[in-house]
Amino acid sequence: MERNEFIKSLGLGVAMVCTGACFSACGKKSDSPEPSKPNGGGVPTGTTASVDLNTQLLTVGASVVVNGILFIRTAAGNTTTSFAATQAACPHQGGALSFIQASNYIQCGLHNSRYTTTGSILAQPNDGGTTSALKVYPLTVSANMLTATA
Ligand code: FES
Repeated sequence: MERNEFIKSLGLGVAMVCTGACFSACGKKSDSPEPSKPNGGGVPTGTTASVDLNTQLLTVGASVVVNGILFIRTAAGNTTTSFAATQAACPHQGGALSFIQASNYIQCGLHNSRYTTTGSILAQPNDGGTTSALKVYPLTVSANMLTATA
């Protein structure tokens, strides 16, 4: 083997090792199963959000997101027991949560984790990661205004 050929083959080997190390490091970072949202995707303590029950959440199964909180009407009537309020961002990696009325669960649009309206986990993310239970916020009703406070 000529000296020039030897140096070229050495350079190619070093480049392959560096590329492999880079891909390995990148893979480890993106495969992290840990929740990556600050506060687990919940809103900061003290945050409030309100819904006018004269115009929103009129039917059982209706839902709306206000100020980072997902409101769901779970039953008829305008008492606090007729509603649920959870964080609207998924604890896993912050995907948008939606209430799926036909199945009566909350689902993440990013990796399809699922939760009950009381925040319990029904299904883990489909990317191999893990999620945590949803934060559920206490409710009050006054003058037909539904308010959740974190
Ligand atoms: S962000 Fe919701 S399951 Fe991954």
